[in-house]
Amino acid sequence: MGDFDRYARLTARLDAPYAVIDLAAFRRNADDLVRRAAGTPIRIASKSVRCRALITAALERPGFHGVMSYALPEALWLARNGVDDILLGYPTTHRTALRELSEDPDAASRITLMIDSPEHLGYVKAAATGTARIQICLDVDASLRIFGQHLGVRRSPLRTPSDVAALARKVAADDAFELTGVMFYEAQIAGLPDTSPAVRWVKRRSAAELADRRGAVVDAVKQVAPLRIVNSGGTGSLEISSADPVVTEVTAGSGLYGPTLFDKYDVFQPEHAMTYALDVVRRPAPRIATLFGGGYVASGPAKKSRLPLPAAPSGLKLLGTEGAGEVQTPVQGQSADRLRIGDRVWMRYAKAGEMLERFDVLHAVDGEDVSELVTYRGEGKNFG
Ligand SMILES: Cc1ncc(COP(=O)(O)O)c(C=O)c1O
Repeated sequence: MGDFDRYARLTARLDAPYAVIDLAAFRRNADDLVRRAAGTPIRIASKSVRCRALITAALERPGFHGVMSYALPEALWLARNGVDDILLGYPTTHRTALRELSEDPDAASRITLMIDSPEHLGYVKAAATGTARIQICLDVDASLRIFGQHLGVRRSPLRTPSDVAALARKVAADDAFELTGVMFYEAQIAGLPDTSPAVRWVKRRSAAELADRRGAVVDAVKQVAPLRIVNSGGTGSLEISSADPVVTEVTAGSGLYGPTLFDKYDVFQPEHAMTYALDVVRRPAPRIATLFGGGYVASGPAKKSRLPLPAAPSGLKLLGTEGAGEVQTPVQGQSADRLRIGDRVWMRYAKAGEMLERFDVLHAVDGEDVSELVTYRGEGKNFG
């Protein structure tokens, strides 16, 4: 049990469900991300953190710079609370926030929007009512096309140097905009655990293809405008993405918390810094204990990998027939026989920040100290 015993002792007075962050593990995870980025600054993926105190704590550490935000209302909120250099990781259609951005020169100087088509540019222009100059980054498709297959996520239609340069020229030709960056998110490298030789092969192949294409795209766009940002990567690809000299920054968030989807990578293993506690409320049969709550299933393809994992006591697993339940979660295993009503079972979530949409506060354990950190949800913020 180790750390779980300590968490249980330090948080015994709390009523479950509640979430715990181990701050020492969080700091060690931050250090490991910095080591892996090998001198390339890390932009923090806020969707994978969703707690302002922890975003700030990471930003204060050497090696981190800027935030990758997932929603423009979030970016405005962070900017107004003093966060500088915020890159939207995704396009936005939020008209109210676009209006506010265009009317707020200070926020506009801190925030860069992400687009991948002239239609996005037209949309932003139509929504903007103010005169603040809007910074723009171009999202470039970083997937691998091989054997007629698309390996990676469905994001941007921009792929070739000439596609990207054509859109760059449109941005640069309009005084309402300033072209500041390009981004390449190689999800098929960063987001895939190394579970088979085929996956490792795809990753190597994709890294080689992208290194060539990324360089050519950046050269083409630099003919149009100087670039402050060439962003790439995620927690799962830091060493590969930062190895390309054209990349000015890498992104990471999940590696700070170490959720289960990051348990099976060959070259790194984040510590399990985040966990949540559930109470045993019933003992329906030998070797089965039923917990209150717990059905926190992560986004993505609806597969087993998205289910939470009982972490302590060891040897427990979810039941295939019930999974993680809406109000009750049965767990099975020999150690269930030692569990009594009111005992605690510790769970790990599959993804990182998404889990915090369930909790208003994080109970932050640091050695023998415990404090409370408010999550986005606890601040009344929900950005979708
Ligand atoms: C654009 C972009 N960059 C980087 C990341 C990596 O985030 P993390 O480090 O939390 O895996 C993501 C995650 O989906 C992303 O969408």
